[in-house]
Amino acid sequence: MILKSPYDELADAYHATIDPDGAGLGDPTFDELVGDPRGKRVAAVACGQGRDARRLADLGAEVVGIDASESLLAHARELEQRRSRGIEYVHGDAQDLRPLADRSFDGAVCYMALMDIPALEPTLRSIARILEPGGWFVAAITHPCYKSPAHGELVDHVEGTYRRIAGRYFEEGPHDSATRWEILPRVSYHRTLSTYVNTLVGAGLPIVRMAEPIGDKPVWKEAAGLLYVRCETAKS
Ligand SMILES: C[S@@+](CC[C@H](N)C(=O)[O-])C[C@H]1O[C@@H](n2cnc3c(N)ncnc32)[C@H](O)[C@@H]1O
Repeated sequence: MILKSPYDELADAYHATIDPDGAGLGDPTFDELVGDPRGKRVAAVACGQGRDARRLADLGAEVVGIDASESLLAHARELEQRRSRGIEYVHGDAQDLRPLADRSFDGAVCYMALMDIPALEPTLRSIARILEPGGWFVAAITHPCYKSPAHGELVDHVEGTYRRIAGRYFEEGPHDSATRWEILPRVSYHRTLSTYVNTLVGAGLPIVRMAEPIGDKPVWKEAAGLLYVRCETAKS
């Protein structure tokens, strides 16, 4: 079966909006959780057109990016041709990571993509499989508590500040949102916070740090828009 991604049809619009010049991801929380990856072999899982892969390479890692969208990978490879960072881009499914060998990476990242991947458990088990003992995994997701399937914001007219509201939190699985950013597919996959934590731990990726940075917009000063984790596998 030919592997496709819902991003294939959106790839040009996505690329025109997300790091079109190829500077790489600029996210201090990501950098902080990754630490110093110099000389380490790192997999960028669901790398899209490679902004996370480029950042890791600029920090000194040897990077393999893998994604289900050939159209986004074509943009990644074009940027790599324009300015080589030594990144290898591979077409593959995060749910099995078949092209990547067992215990072949020191670290892995999955940046803003777990919500787009239908099956969480096989994805996390595959990430654990490709890591060396004592390896690390950094993921960033939309915050499952505040970006649940029914979310929105209210203005508190007394204080003049925003309040985040979130509903349908317990409805895990695919949900279709007409208001999702137009460069993203309408369908994404919601899981509760405990499902994320328990599935990470069950896959052999125990969390050692979490981060919930305060955002720029008023509503993201009230509630966390993003959630980051760093996990580390057992040393032997
Ligand atoms: C929001 S984009 C994030 C891409 C990149 N990490 C970034 O931050 O720009 C989500 C990515 O997940 C990829 N994706 C979705 N399902 C996938 C799967 N089963 N296997 C691999 N990649 C997948 C999409 O093709 C898309 O590139």
